[in-house]
Parts: sequence; structure tokens; C-alpha cells
Amino acid sequence: MKEIKLTTTFFEYESIEALSLADQQLMQAAIAIRKQAYAPYSKFRVGAALLLDDGSVIEGANQENAAYPSGLCAERTAIFYAGATRPQAVIVAIAISACSDLKQTTTPIPPCGACRQAILEYENKQQQPIRMLFMGAAGPVVESPSLINMLPFHFDEDSL
Ligand code: THU
Repeated sequence: MKEIKLTTTFFEYESIEALSLADQQLMQAAIAIRKQAYAPYSKFRVGAALLLDDGSVIEGANQENAAYPSGLCAERTAIFYAGATRPQAVIVAIAISACSDLKQTTTPIPPCGACRQAILEYENKQQQPIRMLFMGAAGPVVESPSLINMLPFHFDEDSL
């Protein structure tokens, strides 16, 4: 038996204002689309904005369903749309913002495991890292340089 240790690195910014102007704009796009989430059940609204290599931005918000598992997270709504409509584009970064109608979310809200897995697939496909930024409704922003940092011990095509 041997012990295996994996280390991962994130960066934390005090607030959205501490980001570069370009990252602020991407996060503002995530915040704006978050308001259009369809979240009548959880009242938890998530917005995701993807920056493509040509400078265009693709947005998504969570879409819930009365049959709960039929809904979809904001991140996958956005990345599947990007995959379907812009399959040749390189995804440079994704910004995510989450808020609740029921309470204040001032700590960074990381994406769920299923979204990490889905985004990792596109990082592997394009063979270039996807930088990720995430936050709550307000407060600090966390940056991950790549999906590998979010999912260090992962299943991918090499596992098949
Ligand atoms: N949700 C997202 O949109 N992204 C995540 O990474 C986690 C959760 C959504 C799904 C559901 O509509 C609501 O937040 C509560 O789980």
C-alpha cells in the first residue's frame, strides 16, 4: 500500500472588482444571465458565461423541472450549447455566479461534480485549459486555472 497525495491550486480575489477588466465583464455576463434562471423549485439561481477564443460569450442559466432530475445546471446548459453551436471554438474561460432567493450567498459557490466532469470533457477535447471563475451573489471570487484543479482524480477518455 502506498499513499497518493494530490495537490491542487486555486486563487482567491477579494471581490469582482479585484479581477481584470475582461474577467469582470465575463462575471457580469454570468450575473446578468443568472437573473433569467428558471428555478421555481430551489429558488437557487446560477448563471454561467463562457468566453470563446474569438471573444464571443455564450451564456446559460439553470433550468429546473417538476421532475427534478430532468432539470439542468447553468454550466452544462451553457457548455452543451457551445458544444452544439460552436464545436470548433476554443473555450478560454467560464465565469459562474450563484445566488439564492432565500438567503445571502457571499462565499464562492463551486460548480457541482457533474458540471466539472462535463466541462473537463471539453478541456480535453480542445487540449487547452479552461480557466474557471466562480462566486456567490457577492464577495470573493475563486479562480481555477484548469478543470484539472477542480477534478484532480478524474475519469476521462483514457479510463475507457
Ligand atoms: N445548479 C447549477 O446550476 N449549477 C451547479 O453547479 C450546482 C447547482 C442548480 C441546479 C438546480 O437548479 C439548483 O442549482 C439547485 O441545485
